[in-house]
Amino acid sequence: MHAEAQHELSGESLRTDAPLEHEGKSQNFAPTDLVATALGTCFITIMGIKAKQQGWKLGEINIEVNKIMTKSKPRKIESISLHIKMPPGLRSHQLRVLQKATEDCPVLHNLKDSIKIKIIWVSKKKESLKFFPTHVFRETPKVTFFDAGIDKSNSSDVVIHHGDAVSPPNNGDDEMYYVHHHQIDHNLVLEGSRTFTLLNPEWDEPHHVIFLNPSMGSLQIPINTYHRSISGTKGSMVLNQAIRDEEFDKQKEFKPISLRSSIDLKIAKSADPVYWLWDEGKVKRVKSGGKHVQRKCPNKLKKNYIHSNSLN
Ligand SMILES: [Fe+2]
Repeated sequence: MHAEAQHELSGESLRTDAPLEHEGKSQNFAPTDLVATALGTCFITIMGIKAKQQGWKLGEINIEVNKIMTKSKPRKIESISLHIKMPPGLRSHQLRVLQKATEDCPVLHNLKDSIKIKIIWVSKKKESLKFFPTHVFRETPKVTFFDAGIDKSNSSDVVIHHGDAVSPPNNGDDEMYYVHHHQIDHNLVLEGSRTFTLLNPEWDEPHHVIFLNPSMGSLQIPINTYHRSISGTKGSMVLNQAIRDEEFDKQKEFKPISLRSSIDLKIAKSADPVYWLWDEGKVKRVKSGGKHVQRKCPNKLKKNYIHSNSLN
C-alpha cells in the first residue's frame, strides 16, 4: 500500500500510504490527500507568480487544507476546504488582486465541478491605536477644567486602583483579560498612570503596551481586543467613556478570560510589543527590539511593566 513517485527532472520523490480507515497505516499522504494538497499548493504558486509580476514582496502564506471523503460508495473526495492565512500588512487592493488570481488556478478548474470547495481567507488587519485628546477649557491655580467628551459615547464607568492593582486581577497563576464584543472603550487617566496591555490576534501587530497618562487623552480599545491594566504603587483613576451597541449584555461583556484559554492569545502575547508613551508633548509609538525603544521608553515605566508581568 506504500507507493513512491519520483520527479524526473529534479529527482525529488514523495511517498504515499493508505489511510488508517482504508487498510493502511497513514504513515504518509494518502493519494487523495495529494489531490487536496495540489489545490493548496496551486493557490500559493498562482499568488506567488502574481506577486512577482506586480513587484510585491510577499511574506509567508499558510494554507490549512481539509479533505472530507464520502461516507458511502463510491469512495471519493466529497469536499475540500482551504483556510488561507495571508501575510500581515497586506493592503486591501493587494489582497483583492491575489484573490482574483487564484480564480485561474488550473487545479481549481479541474476539481470545482466534481468536489465541493470552500475557501476561507484570513488577512491580519493593520491596526493603529487611537487616542482622543482632551481640550482644556480653563486652568487656574490648582484647578484643571477640561472637555473630555467622546462622540457617540453612551455609557461611562470609573475604575479606581488603590495602589498597584491589576484589572482584571489574576486568577492564581493565570493572567486574565477583558474582551468586549459589543463595547468600544475609551479610557482616560484622570489621576496617576496606568499601563495597559492590549492583545488582538487579528492584528498584524498583536501586542501593544501603553503607558497611559492624563496628557495622552482617551485610549480607544476596539471590539474583540483583549485588555488588562496595571497601576504603579500610587494607584490611578480611569474614566471609561464607552460606546455600546444594541447587542451589549453586561452579563457577557465583563467576564475575564485567561491568557491560557487560547493558543492565538498566547501567540499574540509572545510577539514583541509595540510601546505607546508620552514623550516631548506627543503620543509616541515605539516598536520594541530596536535601539529606539531603549532610548525612548522611560526605564521606570519599562521596569513597572516587567514587574507587572512578573506578578503573573
Ligand atoms: Fe474594557
